[in-house]
Amino acid sequence: MSKPTFYITTPIYYPSDNLHIGHAYCTTATDTMARFKRLSGYDVMFLTGTDEHGQKIERKAMDAGKTPQQYVDDIVAGIKDLWKLMNISYDDFIRTTDKRHEVVVQKIFKQLYDQGDIYKSEYEGWYCTPCESFWTETQLKDGCCPDCGRPVEKTKEESYFLRLSKYAPWLIDYLRNNPEFLQPATRTNEMLQNFLLPGLEDLCVSRTSFKWGIPVTFDEKHVVYVWLDALTNYISALGYLSEDPEKFNKYWPADIHVVGKEIVRFHAIIWPIILHALGLPLPKQVFGHGWLVINGGKMSKSFGNVVDPVILCERYGTDAIRYFLMREIAFGSDGNFTNESLLNRINSDLANDLGNLLSRTVAMIEKYFDGVVPQPGEPEEVDTNLWNQASQLHETYQELMDKLQFSNALSAVWGLIGNCNKYIDLTAPWILAKSDEGKERLKTVMYTLYECVRMIAVFITPFMPSTPARMYEQLGITDENKMNWQSALAFSLDSFGATVKKGEAMFPRIDIKKELEALNIAQGNDKAEKKAEKEEKKADKKQEKKEKKAQKEEFVPPAEISIEQFMSVVLKTAKVIACEPVEKADKLLKLTVKVGEETRTVVSGIAKHYTPDQMVGKTVILAANLKPAKLRGIESQGMILAAYENDTLRLLTADGEVSDGITIS
Ligand code: MSP
Repeated sequence: MSKPTFYITTPIYYPSDNLHIGHAYCTTATDTMARFKRLSGYDVMFLTGTDEHGQKIERKAMDAGKTPQQYVDDIVAGIKDLWKLMNISYDDFIRTTDKRHEVVVQKIFKQLYDQGDIYKSEYEGWYCTPCESFWTETQLKDGCCPDCGRPVEKTKEESYFLRLSKYAPWLIDYLRNNPEFLQPATRTNEMLQNFLLPGLEDLCVSRTSFKWGIPVTFDEKHVVYVWLDALTNYISALGYLSEDPEKFNKYWPADIHVVGKEIVRFHAIIWPIILHALGLPLPKQVFGHGWLVINGGKMSKSFGNVVDPVILCERYGTDAIRYFLMREIAFGSDGNFTNESLLNRINSDLANDLGNLLSRTVAMIEKYFDGVVPQPGEPEEVDTNLWNQASQLHETYQELMDKLQFSNALSAVWGLIGNCNKYIDLTAPWILAKSDEGKERLKTVMYTLYECVRMIAVFITPFMPSTPARMYEQLGITDENKMNWQSALAFSLDSFGATVKKGEAMFPRIDIKKELEALNIAQGNDKAEKKAEKEEKKADKKQEKKEKKAQKEEFVPPAEISIEQFMSVVLKTAKVIACEPVEKADKLLKLTVKVGEETRTVVSGIAKHYTPDQMVGKTVILAANLKPAKLRGIESQGMILAAYENDTLRLLTADGEVSDGITIS
C-alpha cells in the first residue's frame, strides 16, 4: 500500500541578507514537522527556496556593483550552506529565477488575464520596497509602512490588477466556514477585521519602473509583481502546468504552508484567491508563527540586533540550537531570544535532564551487569507507572505535533525524562546492587530505564536529528527496528541483551557566566547590548507613564449598551497550564492558557495577588477576541477577568467544573 502524502513548505527567503536565527526558526520548525511526518510513515515533500526578484534585490545588486543574477547566485549558495549546517532535510529547493518557475508564473498570469481576472489600469499609491507591499494613503502609519515602519515611496505607473474585490465575499465565507484553514485561530479574525471586512481593493500585480522580474509575456515592459511570482513557487516546484505534473497531482493541495505572521495576509488572502481563480484546491492549512524577538523588537539587520545561527551552531551544536528554538517559544506566539535563556536550557534540559539520564543509565548497566542489558523480571507498581507513561507518550506527542505545538510535545517527552530521573532516586539502584535479592530487582530497574531512554531517542528524532545516533551508539542499538516510530508506540520487553558503551557527554555543561561573555564578544553584541538595555529602560518608563495615565483617566463605560455591543465580546473559559513571572515587571505574570484546541499566551497584571503556582490548574474567564497587545515584549492574546477592590484582586472563575474553550453566553 502506498504511503499517505504530506506536503509542507517554508516561505521562500529573500536573498538580500545573511539569514539570521529568526529565519532559521521558521525553517527548523518546518523541518521538524517534515521529519515527524516521515518518521510516522508519510511520503513527505518538503519545499523551501529563495524569492529572488523585485525592486529591493535590483537595488541591492546595483549597490554591490553586481548584476542581480550574480548577486542572488552568491547569496543563495550561502543560504544552502546554512540549511546544511542546520540539518534541514528539504526535498526540493526552488529559486524564483529557475526557468521551471518562471514559465509557470507567465502561464498563470496569461490565464488570469484571458479569463478577465487580471485587467490593465493605472496604479497610484504608496510602495514599501523592503516589504514589496502596496499601501493606500489611509493604511500608512505616520506616513510610513504599517508593517515595518520604514519610509514608503509614492508610485504612479501603468499596471495590471488582480480582481481581489470580486473574490472577497467568497473568501470571507471560506475563512468563516473553514476555521482549520488559518492557524492559530486568532489569525483568521485578524484577516477578517483588518483586511477583508473593511473592503478588499484589487491588487496591482505588475510593475514597469524596474526590470528585475518575470516579464509579462504579452506586454513585455511589465514585470510580474513579486508576491504573485513568489507565491506561485508552491505549485511551480511540483510541475504545475509543466510536461511532468506528476508531483503536482500527487502532493497538491499542500498540507501546511508555514509562514511568519507578517506574511499571513499574502498567504491567506492573495494566494487563496489566485488558486480559486485558477480552479485549484486551496492548501489545507496556513500556519502563521510568531517572531523571535530581541528585547521585544523584531530581529532585523537594519535594527542591528540579529543573531547569527552559524556562531551558535558551531559553539553548541546544531541539535542544541534546534531544541532551544522549538522548546522555548510556543509556536504561533512571539518569543524573546536571549543568550542566557539558550545557555540555561542547554544546561538544564540537555546536559542535566537528558544527558545525565543517558550517562547514568549506561554507567549503571556497565557497573552492575558488565554492560549487558538485563532481562526484566516481575514489575512493581513503580515500574509499571513508568512503562505506562512511556507507552502512552506517543498519543499525546502525536496529537501535539499534528497541531504544530512543538514546545508542548517536547514538554511531554521531558515529562518522561524527568520521571526516569526520579525513578532512579526512588529505586536507588546503588542500594539494590548490594544484595542478591536486590540485584534481581535491579534487572527490572535497569531494563526499565534502558527501554525508556531508547524510546526517548525516537521521540526527539524530528527535533534533534543527530542526537539519537549518538544515543543508540551508547545504548548498543544497531537494529533499525529499534529506532523507528513503530518501536516508540509501546514499552516493549524485548530490548534486553544489547551491550552498552559509555561515551562522551552529549551536552557538556556550560559555565554560563564565562560563556555569556565569550558569546557576546563572538556576536559583536557587547556594544549593541548596552544600547538595547538603555532602550529597554526607556520603553519601560514610557509604558509606566502610559499605565499611570490610563489609571488616572479611568474609562467610564456608557450607561447602556446594545445586546450587539455586548455580544461582540467573546468570553471563554480557559485553563491555565503554565505560568511564570515576567522579567523586570513585578506586577505581571505570563500565563499559558488552554482554550479548547488552542493554546494562548496572556500577560496579566496579577503578580501582586497570585503566585505562578497558584495560577496553574485554574479555569479562568478570558476575553478571547481582544486585539493582541505587547506587554514587556510579550504578545498577550486576550485578557483574563478579575474583580479589584481596595487593593485586593480576585479572579473570576466558574462556579464548579467546566471545560476550557467554552463560550460564555
Ligand atoms: N520572500 C518572502 C516570502 C515569500 S513566500 C511565498 C519573505 N521572505 S523573508 O526572507 O523576509 O522571510 C522569510 C520568513 O522568515 C518569513 O516567514 C518571516 O516571517 C520569517 N522571519 C524573518 N524574521 C523572523 C524572526 N525574527 N522571527 C521569526 N521568523 C522570522 O517574507
